[in-house]
Amino acid sequence: PLRRSTNVVWQETDITKQIRAQQKGQSPLTLWFTGLSGSGKSTLANAVEKRLVSLGNHTMLLDGDNVRHGLNRNLGFKEADRVENIRRVAEVSKLMNDAGLITLASFISPYESDRNNAREIIGKEFIEIYVSTPLEECEKRDVKGLYKKARNGKIPNFTGISSPYEEPKNPDIEIDTSRYSLEDATEFVVKEIMKYLS
Ligand code: PPS
Repeated sequence: PLRRSTNVVWQETDITKQIRAQQKGQSPLTLWFTGLSGSGKSTLANAVEKRLVSLGNHTMLLDGDNVRHGLNRNLGFKEADRVENIRRVAEVSKLMNDAGLITLASFISPYESDRNNAREIIGKEFIEIYVSTPLEECEKRDVKGLYKKARNGKIPNFTGISSPYEEPKNPDIEIDTSRYSLEDATEFVVKEIMKYLS
């Protein structure tokens, strides 16, 4: 349940988010990459950001591993911690959008209710990108050796092994990175995103 603050009144500002976005000459968006560990979310988000920047857009990338070193360093991987992780990141993404930026958020975000909540917080700027690389492929890649550790019981609550991943039912964009080169996957996602950029 969301708790509202008491005795705090929302302050309107003269410079609105529309004016801030106009200054940047772009439509703010939050590109929300969800998928298993090792699915290629971060790699793809990085490549997409590079393309958007080369086209003259102003962007900000938020990545699970990095945000967990700072803002969310007090959170682990139990359900309640993941819920709070995603809530904070959604609020930060919204602030970035208010500043006129295109935000790329790359988080496992395994729970449907949290992704829906993120969509509610962020609003029409929220674009859900499901990186649907199958578990077997992610485990085969095992870039960080985490699946091996999880299988050996050395990491509790590991997504896909001992903690759930609820697949998006109706993502705005879906891409299985085991079926395309990084270049082709990036091309496909950027082309899809262009439909939302005016
Ligand atoms: S979540 O579920 O959205 O809150 O997770 P996120 O903030 O994206 O963090 C995922 C990265 O944390 C590492 N890691 C784990 N992932 C899943 N389960 C467990 N138990 C876990 N422990 C550590 C892992 O490197 C994830 O990075 P990615 O980039 O997804 O592989």
